[in-house]
Amino acid sequence: MAGLISKSFIADLLARVDIVDVVDPVVKLKKSGKDFQGLCPFHQEKTPSFTVSQEKQFYHCFGCGAHGSAVNFLMQQRGLAFTEAIEELASVARMEVVYESGGTAPREDFSGLYGIMVDAQALFAKLLKEHPTRERAVAYLKGRGLTGKTAKHFGIGYAPPAWDTVVASLGTSPARIELLEQAGLVLRRDGGGHYDRFRDRIMFPIHDRRGRVVGFGGRVIDNGEPKYLNSPETPIFHKRQEVYGLYFAKAAKPDSLLLVEGYMDVVSLIQHGVDNAVATLGTSTTAEQLEQLFRVTPEVVCCFDGDNAGRKAAWRALEAGLPLLSEGRKLGFRFMPQGHDPDSLVRAEGPAVFRDPAGARSLSDFLFQELGQQTDLSTIEGRARLIAQARPLIGKLPQGAYRHLLAERLAELAQTSLGDPERLLSREYRPATAESRQRPSGSSRRSGVPSRALRTLVMLINRPELVKSVADLPLSELPSEGENRLLAETLTVARESAATNTGELLERLRDVIAQEELSTLLGTRLTLPEDLWEAEFRGAIEGLLKMADRKFRQSALGSEVTSPKDLPQEVRDALRRGRVRDSK
Ligand code: UTP
Ligand code: MN
Repeated sequence: MAGLISKSFIADLLARVDIVDVVDPVVKLKKSGKDFQGLCPFHQEKTPSFTVSQEKQFYHCFGCGAHGSAVNFLMQQRGLAFTEAIEELASVARMEVVYESGGTAPREDFSGLYGIMVDAQALFAKLLKEHPTRERAVAYLKGRGLTGKTAKHFGIGYAPPAWDTVVASLGTSPARIELLEQAGLVLRRDGGGHYDRFRDRIMFPIHDRRGRVVGFGGRVIDNGEPKYLNSPETPIFHKRQEVYGLYFAKAAKPDSLLLVEGYMDVVSLIQHGVDNAVATLGTSTTAEQLEQLFRVTPEVVCCFDGDNAGRKAAWRALEAGLPLLSEGRKLGFRFMPQGHDPDSLVRAEGPAVFRDPAGARSLSDFLFQELGQQTDLSTIEGRARLIAQARPLIGKLPQGAYRHLLAERLAELAQTSLGDPERLLSREYRPATAESRQRPSGSSRRSGVPSRALRTLVMLINRPELVKSVADLPLSELPSEGENRLLAETLTVARESAATNTGELLERLRDVIAQEELSTLLGTRLTLPEDLWEAEFRGAIEGLLKMADRKFRQSALGSEVTSPKDLPQEVRDALRRGRVRDSK
């Protein structure tokens, strides 16, 4: 049965594949020292800054920051999905993909799933027209102002209240029942047999960008919980990757896409002539979703509620979108007036408000206004804070005019007079830390260095086997707030996966650390010679453990306790958790 690709298969595959063979047909690589270099395929350049390390099984561009394993390369360069990239690599390596369920499954297996989704969509649509209890659903849709034409356009349907509508109509053989279950349309009953997941709901089919039905959102009629019941993650449905309505909006060939939050918002906007509306599926906006949108139009406008929650959602979209904003792409924002969502606003005021330039906000506006609200720009301290907060964000932008202009705006707001605004973004600009001043050989060194936790992390990512040198230490006691969290999590992953090179470790970290966070780390070069890494690495971990121990004793002050080891494990855990929460 097809399912998630097995993690150990991915490790085996990466051990077998050489990233140089994967990259070389695309980028002309030349040997340069230990590594290979060439012109970056992800941005325009005349001198090579794209480096491939055979030893680390990993590529990195010092110009635009692109980086990753062989899998990432195929994803980025060919626009493949994760599974597609793995399947492609597997076929080159002549290996058969192993799925979580244990069996192997060729990709064609999904055709059964796509097929059963088509059948389900047709069934729900037919029931909206014919079922004896359809009136309630129809009345609800009419009450919300939806026309029959719109319902048909989106393929909207109706799941009646019975427990076996889908099971009985579509589950005509054991094989089909299994497909229904895999597609998330029916659930297995404890005592045997199956029952429908969606009952008494209005059914919104969710299409992928190629127009295939991959999932459903089922809305309760009138009131009830949950308001929307969605298809679970299945081999063909990944909520954080799909965009509702993209297939339809794409067909209208819009100049820009308007990203809203709800299914009903999209449906209502399109009916009222805002033909470029699409929506996320109830999760925060991801980079994958934005990348799909940018492949359709160079401009994406996030349209969220004007309240706190809406602004937070917009901020998350901004963070996810920054690394994608290569030359010519634009991310903008629109906030709904108090008490309105896009659906109610378009019904009250028509489509023009959604195109009104007065209501649009540029990314730079939104970025600086949000940051400005958190700091007092009339003081030096406030302006320094602004720089500290804006730097990592602007630093996520690919090199280019836009990044330069934002850096310039930052310099202006912070009232600094650095000749080159790029310097504001560079690590060299960071003030010297006490630690770096104390370095014995430090006099001629540049003053800014990444924190010790970050340097330790950079070493670990470059040489995952370093984890073995601290195997005897109580790693679970490491502090886990801020930068230390990344270190603690990466240590766990490195230990559990026993990854032997950077590429492999990165694959294991895929679900643990945001790709953007990894970016900065991978771009960091350490000045410490590699033969000293192991000693420094162990020293740093020991230092952090000592610090954790000291903090722990402070928080346990007043008691007889002198070391966390004297306490029962659950008390230690509770105290650790408490500390983590406090620091947020
Ligand atoms: P909204 O509550 O704004 O939904 O949630 P909406 O589309 O405007 O629906 P109406 O107007 O109340 O009918 C936004 C999105 O969050 C997801 C859905 O994708 C929804 O469209 N959501 C919301 C869920 O997945 N489950 C829920 O229970 C609620
Ligand atoms: Mn709504």
